[in-house]
Amino acid sequence: MSVDPLLQPFQLRGLTLRNRLMSTAHEPAYTDDGMPKTRYRLYHAEKARGGIALTMIGGSSVVAPDSPQAFGNILLYKDECVRWLKELADDVHDKGAAVMIQITHLGRRTSWSKDDWLPVIAPSHVREPAHRAFPKAMEDWDIARVIAAYADAAERVKAGGLDGVEFECYGHLIDQFWSPATNKRADEYGGSIDNRLRFGMAVFEAVRRRVGPDFLIGARLVCDEDWDRGLSRDEGMAIARRLTRSGLIDFLNVIKGHIDSDEALSRVIPGMGERSAPHLDFAGEVRAETRLPTFHAARIQDVATARHAIASGKLDMVGMTRAHMADPHIARKIAEGREAEIRPCVGMGYCIDSIYAGQAVCIHNPATGREATIPHLVPRSNGPKRKVVVVGAGPGGLEAARVAGERGHDVVVLEAAARPGGQIVLAAALKRRREIIGVVDWRVRECERLGVVFRFNAFAGADDVLGLDPDVVIIATGGAPNIEFLDSGGEFAVTSWDLLSGAARPGGEVIVYDDNGAHPGLSAAEYVADSGAKLEIVTPERMLAPDVGGTSYPPYFRAFSRADAKVSLNLRLESIARRGNRVVGVFYDEYGRRRVEKEADMIVVEHGAVPVDDLYFELKEGSVNRGEVDYDALIAGRPQTVRSNPGGGYRLFRIGDAVASRNIHAAVYDAIRLMKDI
Ligand SMILES: Cc1cc2nc3c(=O)[nH]c(=O)nc-3n(C[C@H](O)[C@H](O)[C@H](O)COP(=O)(O)O)c2cc1C
Ligand code: SF4
Repeated sequence: MSVDPLLQPFQLRGLTLRNRLMSTAHEPAYTDDGMPKTRYRLYHAEKARGGIALTMIGGSSVVAPDSPQAFGNILLYKDECVRWLKELADDVHDKGAAVMIQITHLGRRTSWSKDDWLPVIAPSHVREPAHRAFPKAMEDWDIARVIAAYADAAERVKAGGLDGVEFECYGHLIDQFWSPATNKRADEYGGSIDNRLRFGMAVFEAVRRRVGPDFLIGARLVCDEDWDRGLSRDEGMAIARRLTRSGLIDFLNVIKGHIDSDEALSRVIPGMGERSAPHLDFAGEVRAETRLPTFHAARIQDVATARHAIASGKLDMVGMTRAHMADPHIARKIAEGREAEIRPCVGMGYCIDSIYAGQAVCIHNPATGREATIPHLVPRSNGPKRKVVVVGAGPGGLEAARVAGERGHDVVVLEAAARPGGQIVLAAALKRRREIIGVVDWRVRECERLGVVFRFNAFAGADDVLGLDPDVVIIATGGAPNIEFLDSGGEFAVTSWDLLSGAARPGGEVIVYDDNGAHPGLSAAEYVADSGAKLEIVTPERMLAPDVGGTSYPPYFRAFSRADAKVSLNLRLESIARRGNRVVGVFYDEYGRRRVEKEADMIVVEHGAVPVDDLYFELKEGSVNRGEVDYDALIAGRPQTVRSNPGGGYRLFRIGDAVASRNIHAAVYDAIRLMKDI
């Protein structure tokens, strides 16, 4: 029988990689004081346990204090890192995977108002729009200092027992020298390609000298900035060839594009609605040209595409980075013939968007980054088989049912609608975002595998639930669109749900009022923009959708730009009235202390959801715990033991938007935290 191309080992000089799957460098902001401590280790060890061949840790680990953390990066300029690297490397190695680290100096791609308050440096004084620091142009002593810092950092990595290092050479200091967009120097480091390469080559040479000939060194290399101001394909390929000839580099990890703005970054790390593997052919061309071992990642999310990347000879190692955040057990499931059980990455981008807000979390895998308390593989219960009734088949309800099924319980899901998904069905109504339905489909498939029983079109009252004689009841009834905040005229509002469900058709002039600040408002607005109606988006915030992150907002804004939409900030909707065939919204401008009227054919309102909680309150007094959750136990990952009403007949928990208007991640996290020990 022929071996799956993905499962064939790969020889990278002295290192045997057990298959072709890797996770490319990404900083999940799981460091503790800049060190890759327990959380970091467990996160990577889980991927090793799941069968991955190579995990590249430490996205953008920084080599010098004037490259402060942009998003929780590892501080490789501190000797203390060696002991943590060693613990991590030992754990990953014990589980059969190789581990390397990405090292960098961020150059202008960070901020000066952090850590040691040193000025940010770059080849020239060109500001990066994304991080917004005005950099200092490097002097000779900066150049010498940073070259030495790279070598010191690489030595620490080697002392930590890792298998190699990768230089980050896209959007960071090394290639800020290469790119004509950022290098305006007139000295020996600017102008000709030889001059622009001088700094980077000095870094590679210094590191090679320090770590010796056998330690693996690679470069994550931009070979085409795909930008009229930037590095052209010809120059990028010339650099790749130069590095190959130098003999300093053992592998290339190919990047196409530039990352200095959110718009540009969203094309290098493409999300939902973008085409699959957009830069794979280009990576193959670089491999053919250089003949160096070639790695690459960019929206290769499914096994078939990954297999094609290897089988067609475009790549030696295929990066499935976010795919492993969604499911760290991909290789194991492939090997066991259980591909269909892989939790799909739906390209939501919540992981990368959340690093600037604190830490990477996957929108629908709450165990990622929480390996200490939440299991990726939910173990079967040793206790008695329970009857679990879940009311509601939105993401929270489905997750509760899935986890209860994994525990081996007898699970029934009652759903009022004709199909599962809850608000995700609305989110998927926007064509560009329809992939989000994978969150639902995967859970339904898993529930079916686990024997969960679904009853659709079943609007459950207390009697229906109690008639099933449950041991545990989960209320996941979600919410209803909130128009309660209006002083008057709620009956004239079209909710974002009406719009996305197709109950209301946009036309003429449409105002979308977004007082949620997240995806639902922007999705409603994009839906209107795509319909051809004239769109105005109004928000009481000082910016649009503050909760939609850097890689997720660009596609919305592209749609708004195409539709020439108007955006009005700092206006709070108070009431809506009818005027002839049209509607008028009255908005309060808090800064001008005045009221502003806006007339349109339709006013779409997005203000989160009001919990649908009647059933919960009906069932509360009959439950053992009266619905109470022990938060200390919840946070620590311990079982729930509240018995405030010992005469009660069942345990009762409420999750997701049935508690308060939040998002998919909150709902599935609620669910697994409560169900994993039942
Ligand atoms: C949370 C997060 C942080 C990232 N940080 C880095 C980084 O520091 N350095 C880097 O080269 N790439 C970084 N990336 C990009 C990934 O390495 C990878 O190129 C990207 O996720 C596209 O691959 P994928 O579609 O397989 O996820 C990051 C990605 C994510 C999701
Ligand atoms: S948040 Fe979205 S893009 Fe990120 S890993 Fe999860 S499913 Fe994939």
